Amino acid sequence: MARTLKEIFKGFSKLNRKERLNALEESGVIESRDVDYLERGGMKDTSLGEKFIENVIGYFQIPLGVATNFRIDGKDYAIPMAVEETSIVAAASKTAKWIRENGEIKTEVIGSEIIGQIQCATVKNFALFESALLAQKKYLIEIANREVAFGLVRRGGGVTDMTVRRIPRGDGRDMAIVHVMMNPCDAMGANIINQVCEFLKEPIEQFTGEKVTMCILSNLVDTKITKAVIVLKGIASDLAEKIEEASLFAEQDPYRAATNNKGVLNGIDPILIATGNDWRAVEAGIHAFAARDGQYRSVTKWKREGDTLVGIFEAPLIVGVVGGVTTLHPTAALCMKMLGVTSANELSRVIAAVGLVQNLGALKALTTVGIIEGHMKLHIKNLTLGAGAQEGEVPIVQKKLEEILAIRKRISLSNAIEILNDLRASEQSPH
Ligand code: MEV
Repeated sequence: MARTLKEIFKGFSKLNRKERLNALEESGVIESRDVDYLERGGMKDTSLGEKFIENVIGYFQIPLGVATNFRIDGKDYAIPMAVEETSIVAAASKTAKWIRENGEIKTEVIGSEIIGQIQCATVKNFALFESALLAQKKYLIEIANREVAFGLVRRGGGVTDMTVRRIPRGDGRDMAIVHVMMNPCDAMGANIINQVCEFLKEPIEQFTGEKVTMCILSNLVDTKITKAVIVLKGIASDLAEKIEEASLFAEQDPYRAATNNKGVLNGIDPILIATGNDWRAVEAGIHAFAARDGQYRSVTKWKREGDTLVGIFEAPLIVGVVGGVTTLHPTAALCMKMLGVTSANELSRVIAAVGLVQNLGALKALTTVGIIEGHMKLHIKNLTLGAGAQEGEVPIVQKKLEEILAIRKRISLSNAIEILNDLRASEQSPH
C-alpha cells in the first residue's frame, strides 16, 4: 500500500538518493519514469535550451532537493528546491516539522490582477488626457479582451480595468501613466499583459492625441498579494521574545531588512527555479513592495501573543503553472507534478509559506545558537573532503572539526587541513 508523504518523510534525510527517489515514487508524487529521468541526471540534450535562450553552450546544473514535513492549509506537500546553498533545505524541513507539531500554516491570495504600464512621457494637459482615456475605457478594455486576451476571458480572466496616474517629471511638466489591470488566471501573465499594452498603444494615441513612449508590465504587483501566516503554540517565552525582537530589527532597519528578506528568498527562489518560474520578477516585486512606504522593510513580521508566536509574510508573488518553462522544461514539469499544485494561486501560497518558514528557521538559529553552527555542521563533510582526506581519514577529521566547532563556534578549511596534516604526521611517527 502506498505510504503517505508524512510517512516517507520520517528519516528521509538519512536515506541515500536512490532510496529517496523510491520513497517519493511510493508516495505517488512522482512516477517510475521520473525516477529514471532523475537517475539519468536530468536533461542533457541542449536542443530545448536553444529554444529558451541564445548562444547556448550547455546547461548549468544546481542541486535539486526536497524540503519535507510541509503541511500548508491542511495539505501535505513535497517541496522541490533547486539551490546551491548549504542548510536551506535542511532548515526548511526542520522548521516545517517544528510547525507541524506545534502549530499551523495558513495562506491566501488577496486580489487577482496584475499590472501593465503604458507611459506617455509628456502630456500637454494631464486632466484632458485622463478624461479622454477614461471616456474610452470601456471600449479599450473590450477591444483588448476581444483581440488579445480572449484566451484568458474564456478562462474567466482578462483585462478588467484601466486607471491613469500623474507623475511629475521634475521639470515642471507631467508624465501620464496608464495602468492596465488584467487577471492572468493560471499564467504568470508577462507576455500577454505586454501584448495587451502594446496593442492599446495606437488607440490610446488616437483618443488622447498624445504620444505613447513605452509599454511594459510592472513587477510591483501590489494589486495581488500573497499572504502566509504561521501560528506556533506553546513556544518558550524567551525564544518568542527573541524572535519578536529580531522581527522588529528587520522592520525598522533597512540594513537588517535586506538580510532578513534574503533569508525569506532562500525559501522562495529555489521553488521558483525548480518550477521554471521567473525568480527575477518575483525578487523585483518583493523588494519594491518591501520599500513601498519609502523605507526598505522586512516582508515578514513576528509577534508574540501569550505563549503563541504569530508570523506573517505579505508580498506580491506572481507565478504561473501554465506556459513557458514551467511546462516545457522536463525537470520543472516533474517538480510541478511532485508539488501537486493545481493553480497559480496555490503555487504562490505554497511558495509564500516556505519563505516564511525559512525566515522562522533563520531567526530561531540567529537568536539562539547563531547561524554558523547549523551551516558548518553540514559543511564539515565538505571541508573534510576539500582538505583532501581519504576514506579512512574522513571520520577522524570530521570528529575533530566537530570538537573545534563546539568550542570555538567557528571552523574553516585551514582547520581541516591542519587536522589532516597532524593526523598524517602522527601516523608516520614511529611512536
Ligand atoms: C543566509 O543565507 C540567510 C540569513 O542571513 C537570513 C537572516 O539573516 O535572516 C541567515
